[in-house]
Amino acid sequence: MSGDICYNLNRIIMIKKRAFIISFEGIEGTGKSTQCRLLSAYLRRRGLDVAVFREPGTSVAGEQIRRILLHGKGKLTLLAETLLFLAARAQLKAEKIAPQLRKRDVIILDRYIDATLAYQGYGSGVDLALIKEINSAAVGDCVPDSTILLDIAPKIGLSRCAGNDRIEKRKLSFHKKVRKGYLCLARENAKRIKLIPVKSDINVIQTKIQEIIDNELNRRKRQRF
Ligand code: TMP
Repeated sequence: MSGDICYNLNRIIMIKKRAFIISFEGIEGTGKSTQCRLLSAYLRRRGLDVAVFREPGTSVAGEQIRRILLHGKGKLTLLAETLLFLAARAQLKAEKIAPQLRKRDVIILDRYIDATLAYQGYGSGVDLALIKEINSAAVGDCVPDSTILLDIAPKIGLSRCAGNDRIEKRKLSFHKKVRKGYLCLARENAKRIKLIPVKSDINVIQTKIQEIIDNELNRRKRQRF
């Protein structure tokens, strides 16, 4: 085998497996988790090996942190809340995302780095630079390749969810700020974040998501070879 062929084969083997990371974001009541499930089923039907993780959660510690954050009894300072979301993320990255990164074709994340910027940063006023810094320490190079931002008016979104956790119970004005934050993040990261208004039927939205992800996966394939 010539040196050139060997080099190219090695290169293909080396770069073959790095899962395509997709994150789903949005305020309450956008149907994000349903869309994650439908997308994973679609990609699996296409023969891809897909993992789906939710945030905060998935790891044992992450699920415990989720209970504290969403249903805990004691008060939390804003900084403590922020650090707990970031701690759950660091755990998810170390325990689930990094070990699966070279094994799976696609990793779908039901919320990820943008959620803390939108909720604790834009929504509650925690320093965005601080969140960005800890976000980067928590996820390293496991950054999303593509982000689907589902957008809905907060009043409608809130009317579609149970409203029984600490964050869902917050005032409408908070959720409006979170939405504005997400829209701002979408403008700043227009290449990565694709905005989809939640105005139509679940299946119509899912078709749009599939088109976006198919395009991204094809573009990535072209870039590789
Ligand atoms: P969900 O996964 O059912 O949407 O619930 C997670 C809740 O936690 C949701 O209200 C958004 C909120 N959240 C934050 O406030 N900051 C974060 O960094 C993350 C990941 C979620």
